[in-house]
Amino acid sequence: MMVFTKTLFHSKIQNLALLLLLFVAISNNASADDGYRLWLKYDRIQNTTISATYSKSFNFIALSGNSDILNNAVKELQTGLTAMLGKPIPIVKTPVINQSGIILTISANGASGDGYSIQMQSGNTVITASKDAGVLYGSFALLRHLRQHLPVEKVVVQSSPKIQLRMLNHWDNPEGPIERGYAGSSLWKWYELPETVDPRYTDYARANASIGINGTVVNNVNASARFLTAEYVHKVAALAGVFRKFGIKTYLSIHFAAPKTLGGLKTSDPLDPEVRKWWIEKTKEIYRIIPDFGGFLVKANSEGEPGPQDYGRTHADGANMLAEALAPFNGVVIWRAFVYKADPNADRFKAAYDEFATLDGKFAKNVIVQVKNGPIDFQPREPFSPLFGNMPRTPLGMEFQLTQEYLGFATHWVYEAPIFKECLDADTYVKGKGSTVATIVDGSLHNYRLTCMAGVANTGSDRNWTGNPMAQANWYAFGRLAWDHTLSPEAIAREWTQLTLTTEPRHVSAISDIMLRSRDIYVDYNTPLGLSRPWTGSHYAPEPWQNRSSRPDWTAIYYHRADSLGLGFDRTATGSNALLQYRPEVGRTWLNAETCPLPYLLWFHHIPWSQKLSSGRNLWDELCHRFYTGADSVLWMQKQWAGVASSIDPAIHSDVTGRLAKQYNEAIWWRDAWVLYLQTFSKKPIPAIYPKPEKTLEEVKKRVDVYLMR
Ligand code: GCU
Repeated sequence: MMVFTKTLFHSKIQNLALLLLLFVAISNNASADDGYRLWLKYDRIQNTTISATYSKSFNFIALSGNSDILNNAVKELQTGLTAMLGKPIPIVKTPVINQSGIILTISANGASGDGYSIQMQSGNTVITASKDAGVLYGSFALLRHLRQHLPVEKVVVQSSPKIQLRMLNHWDNPEGPIERGYAGSSLWKWYELPETVDPRYTDYARANASIGINGTVVNNVNASARFLTAEYVHKVAALAGVFRKFGIKTYLSIHFAAPKTLGGLKTSDPLDPEVRKWWIEKTKEIYRIIPDFGGFLVKANSEGEPGPQDYGRTHADGANMLAEALAPFNGVVIWRAFVYKADPNADRFKAAYDEFATLDGKFAKNVIVQVKNGPIDFQPREPFSPLFGNMPRTPLGMEFQLTQEYLGFATHWVYEAPIFKECLDADTYVKGKGSTVATIVDGSLHNYRLTCMAGVANTGSDRNWTGNPMAQANWYAFGRLAWDHTLSPEAIAREWTQLTLTTEPRHVSAISDIMLRSRDIYVDYNTPLGLSRPWTGSHYAPEPWQNRSSRPDWTAIYYHRADSLGLGFDRTATGSNALLQYRPEVGRTWLNAETCPLPYLLWFHHIPWSQKLSSGRNLWDELCHRFYTGADSVLWMQKQWAGVASSIDPAIHSDVTGRLAKQYNEAIWWRDAWVLYLQTFSKKPIPAIYPKPEKTLEEVKKRVDVYLMR
């Protein structure tokens, strides 16, 4: 007996110790935020009034249907509400009488497409949709609302996505590295698939579904034919099996020469019957393994990739061949318009328009042409691509880049929603005033049958997904804008901050303020006044002097055109005349150097160094002003960020603090590189109000050389 009591006592102590350990583990977990949960943080609501009101409203979740997607919706609501309110919330088949709860219903009268409505009925919160995915999106919308501590009754909404295909494009290579990826290696563990399915794939799908993303291309546009082998299609199928439970379809980038390289045919000519047959059979095979496969993304005859032009055929010939194979399964071809030839006399700005506009109306019904937001290549600031509006009979999809290839990788804090929005809101005037890029991409202007918006993903194997925790906002903003392009960058910034970082109102404002100014700050110290810096030698380091390459448009000097007279690319009639690709109403605002808005000036004009600008300064002084104030503004970002420390998780706060310190260091690097280099042409002094660079041009170049070493 004695022994028994002693054992009991010991086991009680052990239990207590275990509980204590558990508590410590939980509290540690709560305090050290590693960013893994993204914007889906369901921390306990500390405000007792809010918590009590919510508690009264949510006592059950009623769902009568049953499907993977619906079950995920219920599970999300249950997990979220239980954690936020600290009470168990049962899942029931029918609403509980005399209690308030959530009712999920599928109804043909629900919002169209993937849309949902949330209504209050007899004290219950009712989420209705015509498709399972709509219920899932509505559930996430409700949780988003509650996480911002907003009143329950204000959740009433009817919301439908403006774009059908809301996709991520992963530039992931089969061995693991990600092209232009700065957050670790690929999420997809190809060597372990299909037998081992990493639980992280579920978290990835869940995060995407929470912002309405419904498609993902899992491999790089510079595609390996490997992905079309049965071996790999089975691996892809394992991913698709996870994604479909969250309403996400899976797509593949294809290697256009696969009939030759993989199929052993003599040609990959899209008009060759054997080649067509090969694609038809290959597509059938894919659909046998992945019945809801989405389709193919294609980069052809671009930057060395094979394509139909290798056989004297057009982009339309190539796309239509694939469209024929996909049509029986309702699959789509997403054909990229990112093309440019190595012509020393050509203006790369004009290339996509020149190659594609004449093909309008020649593409099969299930083809979308995917266009980068600007005519060159994801520059910090570009005018919108002139293709938008010029292919009324061909659905044009939008391609944005979330990964920060030209925006400071995962070091610099650049909130990209203003870039996306600037392009979407741009007026093409193709059908008169109000013909914005958004109305083209959402299909309303030209009645497109297919609509698509893609974001080149910034995710990777880093625990926090995006390397820089602040870059999560770019993934988030993309999804929210693909759903509803009328949302403002400010509203999205505030929403993301509240969901991810803090609900403290002053700090939400301070952080949104940094986010909203971050892009202009970056542009000022990196490429002000319409300078551009596409890939030349290094994406990472400043290299405006770079003048040697196998082709002229792979040098830096091709783009900025600095000389003893001035700076900038003349795209008016005296130059490449690229402005002609826009409607006169648009062209007019940019045509005249006197009236051209300063952010676009050097995109379209070669301006003399001493020319007075609308700011009152001459070109050289304005450049110095931008480079210096841009770099100095990073100090402002640092100060703002230091000021919010008390309400941000310490781990995240210190991570971002470190990145901002690096950003400042690199902003000075960019500033000095440009100013010292351009000074060799302008021969003008740096205005006395600014400190002289501490380094010489040679010293700055030496630091750059380090990043060019193999
Ligand atoms: C850029 C980028 C490449 C990418 C290409 C594309 O040029 O640097 O890595 O392959 O865009 O969009 O196809």
